[in-house]
Amino acid sequence: MAYPVHLVVDGQEHDLTVDPRTTLLDALRDHLGVMSPKKGCDHGQCGACTVLVDGRRLNSCLALAVAHDGAEIVTAEGLAPEGELSAVQRAFVEQDAFQCGYCTPGQVCSATAMLQEAADGRPSVVTADLDAPLDLTDEEIRERLSGNLCRCGAYVNIVAAVRQAASGGEQER
Ligand code: FES
Ligand code: FES
Repeated sequence: MAYPVHLVVDGQEHDLTVDPRTTLLDALRDHLGVMSPKKGCDHGQCGACTVLVDGRRLNSCLALAVAHDGAEIVTAEGLAPEGELSAVQRAFVEQDAFQCGYCTPGQVCSATAMLQEAADGRPSVVTADLDAPLDLTDEEIRERLSGNLCRCGAYVNIVAAVRQAASGGEQER
């Protein structure tokens, strides 16, 4: 049996018909040809498939497409207008925050949502003082991006990129 699903992906409207077991990741990649969300583990463990769903970051390999009928999805391809880079993407380039790049689309989507979560004052497990203004330390960045693994081990530069984006995009000297 197949079900109709309507998705808005990076600003484009799509109507598709999918088996109800189809994950959001497979709907994006296999049905719509949106290839930036990557299939790393397909088990919710690596974060390579992270996209923004109605503004929240989500492992798309763990989500069923039919459960997100009508949702607005943003992938790494839609974080900035065509031909431009978002502040997070620019910081990743300037800080050389990747090697093979396989994890990078998930990292930039996750970092984008994470910066908004921090701006909204949402604490993490390493936030010491829940009453104080949130200080986005390297420890906070590492904890908040701990669901996004990088097999190349580019973590030092990823943290530097997120720190740069968090501080308004100024490149550290
Ligand atoms: S592919 Fe989704 S978390 Fe690894
Ligand atoms: S840059 Fe290769 S897995 Fe992260």
